[in-house]
Amino acid sequence: MSNQDKIFPVPDDFAKNALIDDTLYQKMYQASIDDPDAFWGEHGKRLSWSKQYTKVKDVSWSKENLHVNWFSDGELNVSYNCIDRHLKDKADQIAIIWEGDDPNKSENITFAQLHRRVCRFANVLKSMGVQKGDRVTIYLPMIPEAAYAMLACARIGAIHSIVFAGFSAEALAGRINDCRSSVIITADEGLRGSKSVPLKKNVDEAVKHALGVDKILVVENTGNPVSMKGGRDIWWHEAATGVDEFCEPVAMKAEDPLFILYTSGSTGQPKGVLHTTGGYLVWASMTHEYVFDYKPGDIYWCTADVGWVTGHSYIVYGPLANAATTLMFEGVPTYPDASRFWNVVDKHKVNIFYTAPTAIRALMGQGEDFVKKTSRKSLRLLGSVGEPINPEAWEWYYKVVGDSRCPIVDTWWQTETGGIMISPLPGATPLKPGSATRPFFGIKPELVDSEGVVLEGATEGNLVISDSWPGQMRTVYGDHQRFKDTYFSAYPGKYFTGDGCRRDEDGYYWITGRVDDVINVSGHRMGTAEVESALVAHDLVSEAAVVGYPHDVKGQGIYAYVTLSAGNDGTPELAKDLVNWVRAEIGPIASPDKIQFAPGLPKTRSGKIMRRILRKIAEDEFSNLGDTSTLADPEVVDDLIENRQNKK
Ligand code: WT7
Repeated sequence: MSNQDKIFPVPDDFAKNALIDDTLYQKMYQASIDDPDAFWGEHGKRLSWSKQYTKVKDVSWSKENLHVNWFSDGELNVSYNCIDRHLKDKADQIAIIWEGDDPNKSENITFAQLHRRVCRFANVLKSMGVQKGDRVTIYLPMIPEAAYAMLACARIGAIHSIVFAGFSAEALAGRINDCRSSVIITADEGLRGSKSVPLKKNVDEAVKHALGVDKILVVENTGNPVSMKGGRDIWWHEAATGVDEFCEPVAMKAEDPLFILYTSGSTGQPKGVLHTTGGYLVWASMTHEYVFDYKPGDIYWCTADVGWVTGHSYIVYGPLANAATTLMFEGVPTYPDASRFWNVVDKHKVNIFYTAPTAIRALMGQGEDFVKKTSRKSLRLLGSVGEPINPEAWEWYYKVVGDSRCPIVDTWWQTETGGIMISPLPGATPLKPGSATRPFFGIKPELVDSEGVVLEGATEGNLVISDSWPGQMRTVYGDHQRFKDTYFSAYPGKYFTGDGCRRDEDGYYWITGRVDDVINVSGHRMGTAEVESALVAHDLVSEAAVVGYPHDVKGQGIYAYVTLSAGNDGTPELAKDLVNWVRAEIGPIASPDKIQFAPGLPKTRSGKIMRRILRKIAEDEFSNLGDTSTLADPEVVDDLIENRQNKK
């Protein structure tokens, strides 16, 4: 180990009971790289297959013939694997602990209850005409019905597409249209920090712009009145009355689609990331077990929302495939106050806790007392995901939240990867604050320069993965060409992550952030192009350029340069209007933090906006703007600097 970095060795008591120690990690990692077919052929057996596979890996990342198949002649059902197979000895064990937004509301759902409710949900979907292969859009808050709906789709072979309940009607409509989904599952309203979110109203608005939606299933959540359209809108509680509590799981091919999840990229249009059945579930369950050192009886809590991939893989599919008790939280970290997370940990005796750096930083800002007045004795392991965790937040998490007892697993992965890719294994890996450390089994990370030359040793470059793993995305839904272009064209034969990364002398990986036009706001991916197209859709805006800048709590904030059409003034009121406009077009997570009205944007003579310059000005680091000689109109830069919004 190099001595420049602060190192936190594996605590002795943790190592004693851990599933994987360093020797075993090295051995298994080597085996996974030397012979992927043998390794995954063996580990695929962690699932129950209704038809055993004989083939394991069948992958080509070549341009001419890009395909990704794992376990392709096997058959299984995800809902069976997450529920039915546990009923024999764990029927009365708690599968889901639901903790409401209101601290007085919670519910324990056993595997037996989960089975009945998912079956009933599946039967209701069938009665609405949903069939294998149909796309079902789920726009639900963090209530148990979200998990039932996902598992019910999986049970009958329908493909779910969850749209985060914080997205706007507009964004929802785009996603419904893209996958041509005719059924939507929603709730009357969501509830977060005692404030209601008008979900059904948003759906009503969305379907005005979405073609072909014939059924909307509505879960009664807050009970406030909403409009219901006869023949189209159905109350869940009415549809479920008297419905059979058994539904046969459908045998799916390993490569049949399980879900689509939309994610932002460097164009204005989100991509429908497609994950399939067998490889995805092997990956989600195996990473969940080993990265979180999950053992039977552990209470596990991931604070994500099911609207993001973290919620798919690490609230629902990974944990339930492992028969874990998974906690699902409806609320926010600061309601009723900043002790909420730790009160919930104490209330339900949580052992493993997984959250995002932005939440840690926000709570850090509220002071230690909110943490210190709680016990947190049950905690054994902490996790982080979504963005690089700054060492200061890491140490606060480690010392204040974990009382210096609990290892932290900083897990790097993406919507596209299906599950965790680079992360410590808590019983095996000495930790360095800010580093995601080492690759999981089967993962071959490489750093390349802009020409694609593979860089060796301690170095920095673009992060690519040089071979397939079972959980990788299979395509962009409806657009295989885009799948090729986005991930396999920059460095032929390798999967390009879009992230920059450093590798140190111990072979540890340090993610440095996106190298494309994607910014990371509170651990959520936002395409700058998406925010730009929302801005230019406004009547008074003629041009917009959006960049990220360092933000104390969010990681990155959204900084928008806006050029108005002739004759309009950039007033503070208009700036406010534009922020609200973007919220309405995309959702609150896309709200610009700063708007700068700019008479012109710095462009090359060929008309390309020089974002490098815009990023520097947004960061208030304009002393070294680099080469500006290629600018068509160098004076615009002086105006931008003069009117910058982040003056220190
Ligand atoms: C991007 C993927 C993975 C689920 C949540 C986000 C960044 C994610 C880390 C981490 C540094 C991280 C990367 C990645 N990221 N985890 N532990 N350390 N960066 O999923 O929305 O698909 O975003 O999030 O930049 O590319 P996503």
